[in-house]
This record gives sequence, structure tokens and C-alpha cells, in this order.
Amino acid sequence: MKKSKIIFAILFIFIFSASCIFFIKTFFPGETYIFMSRFSNFSAKSTLVPKENIESEKTDLKSLLENGAVFNDSLLLINEENPVSENYEPVLAEYKGIYINDCALKAYKELSSAVKNKFKNSIYIMSAFRTPEEQASIIESGNEYAASVNSSEHLTGLALDVYVKYHAGMGFLDSAEGQFVNSFCHEYGFIIRYPDYGEKITGISYEPWHLRYVGLPHSEIIMNNKLTLEEYINQFVPGTYYFYGDYIITKQSDLNSIPAGISEIVISPDNTGYYIITGKY
Ligand code: DAL
Ligand code: ZN
Repeated sequence: MKKSKIIFAILFIFIFSASCIFFIKTFFPGETYIFMSRFSNFSAKSTLVPKENIESEKTDLKSLLENGAVFNDSLLLINEENPVSENYEPVLAEYKGIYINDCALKAYKELSSAVKNKFKNSIYIMSAFRTPEEQASIIESGNEYAASVNSSEHLTGLALDVYVKYHAGMGFLDSAEGQFVNSFCHEYGFIIRYPDYGEKITGISYEPWHLRYVGLPHSEIIMNNKLTLEEYINQFVPGTYYFYGDYIITKQSDLNSIPAGISEIVISPDNTGYYIITGKY
């Protein structure tokens, strides 16, 4: 083959491939995002370092309260095996006429501002806290994505279904804002609770719009390691202390074995019979 023909063939293949990629990215942005995210790198910083015991005085509930420990529900695991308890009452805050769990409010405002600053466009909450009656009526309306009443995180207000104008549901990923939220929500304390990679574990199909507040650093560890909340909560051995950067995380059956001297303490029940205690060491 002549040299000019080879150059022509290479150029043709290059231009054809580039056009195909451009076409697919333009007309199927959501699908492209999902495909590409399957190959995204795991973060090297995401490893939890376990220690069965640590040389430190332990503190108790009274001292924790005196030191400003925050109690919230951020790490409740809600699913078919771990339903919301009958007498559960979330602490709610109002945000633009919508009720969300109080512990998620600050983080949501930060995420929302980050989107607004970057894209000059807003994300909105379609649905957050729901009463059991509201969840039941969504199920009755035939919504294929609705979880059974007591296994819906919406009963806690920790779940936020978000959208941008013209892009809701799966279409959220067709927007740059939706892709940003899916890629970076963990920096603000949120996870994609029902990720594409987790359907077999969560039992719920992919919901790129359903954000779940878990708080830092949990959101970062979960998303960077492509975990589901089920895997994350269940991996902690009760009584063991885990280090992640300057954070310490421990799962305990009571509140008498928290290392003294840790700050920014957040305590949440995990809905499996334990507390998850998070602090900075
Ligand atoms: N769509 C989610 C699973 C819910 O209804 O809680
Ligand atoms: Zn939802």
C-alpha cells in the first residue's frame, strides 16, 4: 500500500472514532457517564486502618455530652432487613418548604451552593422526608422505584431526591450538574445510596438522583471504594477502632468505650444494634 493511502486510512479511522465519541457523548451523556464511571480510579487514600485496641483512656456518655458530642441518625442503615422502627421520629429541618433530616441541612446547602457556583444553575429537591402514609401512597401509585414503606430511607429525611430543571430521574445524569453531583457529592457528606455497581447488594436499581447523607469521612470512604452502605456498615468489627486520616471510627454496643481526647464527635445508631462513633484524633 502506498504511504499516502496508509496516512489516509489512519486519518479516516481517527476522525471516524472521534466523531463517534462526540456523537455518543452529545446524544447519550448519561449513558456515557455511567460507562466511564465504571472505569474510574479508586482513591489510594481510602483505606481504613483497624486496631483492636488503642492505648487511650476511655470516656463515657456523660463526658461525651459535656464535650459537645453530636447525636444524629446519619449512619442508620435502612433496608428490607433493617427497617425503620415503628416509633422512629426524625429531627427535621425545613429547607425551602421541604423537610429534611436536620443533620443533612448544612451539607446540602454546601453541595447546592457548589453546583450553583460552578454551573450558575440550581439543583432542587423533589422529595426528602416522607411519612409512612406518603410512602405507601407512592407505592400504590405504581412507582417502580419505591421501597416498601418501612425500608425507605425517606422516612428518616436522610434521603434527598434531587434534580435540575429539565433533567430529573435517570435524566439527571444527562446534565452536567447531575454528573457533578454523582461524582462529587461525597465531598459534602452524601453518597449515591443505590449505585449502579450495588444493585445486587442493595436490592434496589440504580438511582442517580437519590442522595443519602452519611457525613464525612464516611461518604468519602464509601464512594472512593465503590461500596454500598450495607457493605460499609457491616465491615466494622464491633469494638475495633479504625483510623482514616485524622478520623477515628468505631462501632460499639454502648457508649462507654470512646477514646478520651477525641474531638468533633458524632454518634449515630446504625440500626443493626450498634452505635457508630466518629471523631478526630
Ligand atoms: N426510591 C427509594 C428506594 C425509596 O423509595 O426509598
Ligand atoms: Zn429517593
